[in-house]
Amino acid sequence: MRREAMKLWRGGLLATLAGDSGWGLIPDGALLVDDAGRLAWVGPSAEAPAAAEVVELQGALVTPGLVDCHTHLVYGGNRAHEFEQRLQGVSYADIARAGGGIKSTVAATRAAGEAELLASAQRRARALLAEGVTTLEVKSGYGLEAATEARMLRVARQLGALGVDVRTTFLGAHALPAEFTDAQAYIDAVCAWLPELHAAGLVDAVDAFCEHLAFSPAQVACVFEAARRLGLPVKLHAEQLSDQGGAALAARYGALSCDHLEYLSPSGVQAMAAAGTVAVLLPGAFYALRETKLPPIDALRAAGVPMALATDHNPGSSPTLSPLLMLNMACVLFGLTPEEALRGLTVNGARALGLHERGQLVAGQRADFCIWAAGHPRELAACFGHNPLIERVCQAEQAPQGEP
Ligand code: NIG
Ligand code: FE
Repeated sequence: MRREAMKLWRGGLLATLAGDSGWGLIPDGALLVDDAGRLAWVGPSAEAPAAAEVVELQGALVTPGLVDCHTHLVYGGNRAHEFEQRLQGVSYADIARAGGGIKSTVAATRAAGEAELLASAQRRARALLAEGVTTLEVKSGYGLEAATEARMLRVARQLGALGVDVRTTFLGAHALPAEFTDAQAYIDAVCAWLPELHAAGLVDAVDAFCEHLAFSPAQVACVFEAARRLGLPVKLHAEQLSDQGGAALAARYGALSCDHLEYLSPSGVQAMAAAGTVAVLLPGAFYALRETKLPPIDALRAAGVPMALATDHNPGSSPTLSPLLMLNMACVLFGLTPEEALRGLTVNGARALGLHERGQLVAGQRADFCIWAAGHPRELAACFGHNPLIERVCQAEQAPQGEP
């Protein structure tokens, strides 16, 4: 969707999410979008300024555009056979130790060319966009060698041509590739690749997987030091399968977010609160791995840690392409309120990417928004397996057809 000079959208139920809590509802509300793609004015339709072009929303619901702040969208192959194995009682960790899991996707991704990776990632991205995603984070981490990590990140960048704002995250420290036996030697290699990837404009943030079957806090710290030398923000897959103290480490580096967090300790919660680190909740992975330990939602809430929500789309632990389903799962499985869930997929998802100019319908913000066939925003979380999106308005320009 292209930018329009002073376009007024009026007659909708706006869920602005203005401020730190509440839906911020404006019944019969209007949005004025300026020619720079910003919200110039938000308020009751009756008080709206005149505009060159007017669109009648006919009572439809308007929310901020959805921000999917944690995905592994670019990869080769698929792992549906592991789904069958897990149904037979084999754990995610057992599959990984036996050389499956992330490593099997690494083999398929290394074997795939850039065009093939792009085509499959575009198909997945289109599914996310069809449910209202306007900002999309994509991680590397299935190359685990410089050339393939770069290829993944280039493909991720190219997804922007679909008309979505893409943020790329370097996740070289995702797993130990078969050609390395010494984890520290691999970490040193990851740190050595980062400056060149960054110089090529491929990295917006740096992530790692801190876990007994991946990397230790000390090894993650080396990666975070390399990020710090380049002025890059960090994020962490933390306390997904066990408490490694990863969240506290990430907080020491001022991490934008810690993600998963089922095994997060009380001291980890406090460290995140003090650092202003966002908790990214990933109910798709919790559900698919049949995890029973819940992330400490009450403690996060009590400590004032902002909670974001994402699909974590990946071929293993969370093969979902439905951000709307994540709203429902966050409420049913994790006990979030529908408002917390929607904040998680909008304003707090944006914060988890270090973006503060989107995620709320207030003047000055980027005019990314969604128009839904719904009478109240809580319906978006209450329903599942149903997509009420009418239109997605995103300031990221779509490339003309045939030039993705
Ligand atoms: O976020 N936890 C580590 N990484 C991914 C899973 C990757 C995979 O299984 O391929 C996650 O769940
Ligand atoms: Fe992940």
